[in-house]
Amino acid sequence: MEFGTFYGIGVGPGDPELLTVKAINALKKIEVLIAPKTEKKSDSVALSIAQPYLKSSVEIIYQTFPMVKDFAEEKEVFAANKEEILRELRGGKNVGFATLGDPMFYSTYIYIFKLLEPCGVKIVTIPGVPAFLAIAAQIGRPLAYGNDILTIIPATAELDAINSALERADSTVLMKVYKNFPEIVAELKVNGMIDEAVLVSRCGLDDEKIITDIAANKNEQLNYLSTILTRRYSV
Ligand SMILES: C[S@@+](CC[C@H](N)C(=O)[O-])C[C@H]1O[C@@H](n2cnc3c(N)ncnc32)[C@H](O)[C@@H]1O
Repeated sequence: MEFGTFYGIGVGPGDPELLTVKAINALKKIEVLIAPKTEKKSDSVALSIAQPYLKSSVEIIYQTFPMVKDFAEEKEVFAANKEEILRELRGGKNVGFATLGDPMFYSTYIYIFKLLEPCGVKIVTIPGVPAFLAIAAQIGRPLAYGNDILTIIPATAELDAINSALERADSTVLMKVYKNFPEIVAELKVNGMIDEAVLVSRCGLDDEKIITDIAANKNEQLNYLSTILTRRYSV
């Protein structure tokens, strides 16, 4: 029997119209969909975006992916998820892995892709609209032009690293700001990037939220899907 194909499918950040034609075609083709979720949450936003395009017969498999800092040390944690996917592929089924935004950009997909790559299965990765680009469009904020240096910073990095990245940036995207929002606000102040900062939570979803005065809201409990765009000077 011929093996199935593994599709890493970027489904965009939330807006149900922000999937590519290629993503929709792949969703229509698969027999199994892997819906990634974290240990803490039981829902999968990627699944809810993908759902309208799936055949009614599609089997949904929820896989839990713990938040890890060092993939090299912790890849055993993902081994069971890899084996489950391989079983389906070896049974001839096409398997999709739905990823919020783009699969190759700060995504759980990268872990599973790296584990499956040496296994000799066919992998097709389909890019998606990353959240920061959807946010820039939504709030009418040019991200980079001319010789701007655009820096993308995961707010989960060490504060020293965040600070030195901010020092060099003209325009900045701060991802994963939900954990240490007050500290990030302080770093933006020190680096003269607070005035232009805009935070968007759950962009494109029904409960999307936009905060323009982030200094005044620094104690707000943020949703996991929150991103800040900011610039050193306005355009
Ligand atoms: C694990 S990363 C996933 C990034 C994703 N692969 C992408 O291409 O945008 C999770 C972070 O992405 C950002 N994010 C993803 N979806 C978002 C949305 N709908 N609204 C705002 N931020 C979002 C947030 O910064 C969140 O903490």
